[in-house]
Amino acid sequence: MCGIVGYVGDHRAADFLLEGLRRLEYRGYDSAGIASVDRNSHIHIVKTAGRIDSLANRLAEEMPVGTTGIGHTRWATHGPATQTNAHPHAGPHGEIVVVHNGVIENYASLKNQLQQKGYQFKSETDTEVIVFMLEDGFKQLSIPPGQAATDEALVGLVQKVLAKLRGTYGVGILFRSRPDLIIAARLGSPLVIGVSEDAHFLASDASPLVGFTDKIVYLTDHQLAIIKADSLQIAHRDLGEITHSVEKLEIASGDVELGDFEHYMLKEIFEQPQSIENAMRGRLNLDNATAVFGGLNLSSQELRGVDRILLTACGTSWHSAMVGEYLIEELARIPVEVEYASELRYRNPPVPRRTLVFGITQSGETADTLAALREMKRKGHPTLAICNVVGSSIAQESDGGIYLHAGPEVGVASTKAYTSQLVVLAMLGLYFGRLNHLSFDQGYRIIRALQALPDVIRKALTTQDQARKVAEKYQAANNFLYLGRYFNFPTALEGALKLKEISYIHAEGYPAAELKHGPIALVDENTPSVFIMPQGVVYDKVMSNLQEIKARGGPVIAIASEDDHEIDNYADDVIRIPTVEEFLQPIVSIIPLQFIAYHIALLRGCDVDKPRNLAKSVTVE
Ligand code: AGP
Ligand code: GLU
Repeated sequence: MCGIVGYVGDHRAADFLLEGLRRLEYRGYDSAGIASVDRNSHIHIVKTAGRIDSLANRLAEEMPVGTTGIGHTRWATHGPATQTNAHPHAGPHGEIVVVHNGVIENYASLKNQLQQKGYQFKSETDTEVIVFMLEDGFKQLSIPPGQAATDEALVGLVQKVLAKLRGTYGVGILFRSRPDLIIAARLGSPLVIGVSEDAHFLASDASPLVGFTDKIVYLTDHQLAIIKADSLQIAHRDLGEITHSVEKLEIASGDVELGDFEHYMLKEIFEQPQSIENAMRGRLNLDNATAVFGGLNLSSQELRGVDRILLTACGTSWHSAMVGEYLIEELARIPVEVEYASELRYRNPPVPRRTLVFGITQSGETADTLAALREMKRKGHPTLAICNVVGSSIAQESDGGIYLHAGPEVGVASTKAYTSQLVVLAMLGLYFGRLNHLSFDQGYRIIRALQALPDVIRKALTTQDQARKVAEKYQAANNFLYLGRYFNFPTALEGALKLKEISYIHAEGYPAAELKHGPIALVDENTPSVFIMPQGVVYDKVMSNLQEIKARGGPVIAIASEDDHEIDNYADDVIRIPTVEEFLQPIVSIIPLQFIAYHIALLRGCDVDKPRNLAKSVTVE
């Protein structure tokens, strides 16, 4: 959601800013802009509603030449996506310019106070109050004539203003009179700083830095950065100046490039054999027939003492939590609860002692998941993260966790992160199972099944052609049902979500047997039902549910096992997937559903990687 970039160095800032904003496009946005200040203290702002391409067209006509600059992609929360509401926002006297990610919850009362002082606002954003407050305070600084405000004075000013804000922010601030400087600060909205020999970069995640530098500093909440071409200082709200560590950025250029693929989503679907392998690397131990995790930061005694697990997440990650519940309960016989993070954070359910809490998140920045984990931590539960983005807020704040190592996921629709989450949860099931009741032999077989997965997924990727045909046949439908039971009930939810989010077709996922309790009223000849029904204990039951749809004239698409010949007699279309142990089926059965969503979206002319209204990481609640 929304992006920030910044540059202080010897080169024209706009070049990095534009490139950086393109790299952040995947996060979702509706308008964009940049501002730079040159050595003569001239500020130049260019912003547009719509895509980065329209910003690039404007920049081709009027390129800001300053060597210090900030840029922004906005995902509107307050006020529509217009050019006026786009960031950067300048203050009333043109002294200070701000870009902001997040939401200022008390902006209305702050705005009121400023209006009473006579200030007139230009935009409808909450952000504008920040820059007006800064300039209001700036006026009151006693700066000797002919001199510019000192670092200390500006830091003091920024801290004073930030202290009055309620809500969340990542901000980048530019000062007309100090073309050598950007001040950045965060509370609940991520910021990183790239360090190179003659420049510093600011960004809301690491992807803009790739290819520019591999040295990165992660800002945490309540920190403020004083960024110059040749120096970086970090101050904490309560602690004053603090030392910071520079880490190595592990993302390579190829990871964020499209290569031969038309879309990131397709590229990431095809990366799944590799991403799954990466999730397992070094974590399966055949000698002890168990999984090994380096970063749980809990002793095996503490882990053995766990008698309940709570999984919390949003969206696709919540679907993987659903699969996780089935997996861990089945393999480890430990009761598992799944909670929407947005509900958990306010619901205050009784959570028994000795409950271990996992937040599952691709981005590590989802505001609700972060807040739910904080809430659980406050109540004394160990909180761990299953997370993809290294150094993200949730990775930093949790007591420990497991990285997915799936590489950057750029497509807004999560694909490879989902299957990696499932693999990690299966390994957790194995781990806790082996601490409790699973035998060596059972553990050994689970490991063998997991190790076979990358090849199984390679085979499942050959379903693309069948999925494309299904997409061609049903692309005009306005409603879809996705149905599955047991391990494939969450797959039905995830398949429906994939279709909804990128093709804008209404789709519902249900446990197949729930049909009779309502959704069957939706069935008609124009409403396809996708049955996820590989061979397994509930196969016959799902087959009966399928017949119920056929009896009412609904078209049926079946995702079935490769050796299921019976299904051809009943389903209108069949996509065949490789056979695996039942508990691993969700990792395989989702692949054709990812393809179906992708190809329908493509056929309907939708923007697959940047679906309307959506953001890759949802940093507002
Ligand atoms: C996935 O396709 C979605 N775009 C969305 O539901 C996503 O899974 C959700 O916002 C959670 O994100 P996270 O995994 O980064 O926390
Ligand atoms: N709340 C701000 C706005 O609506 C910032 C939105 C964002 O994070 O992009 O302008």
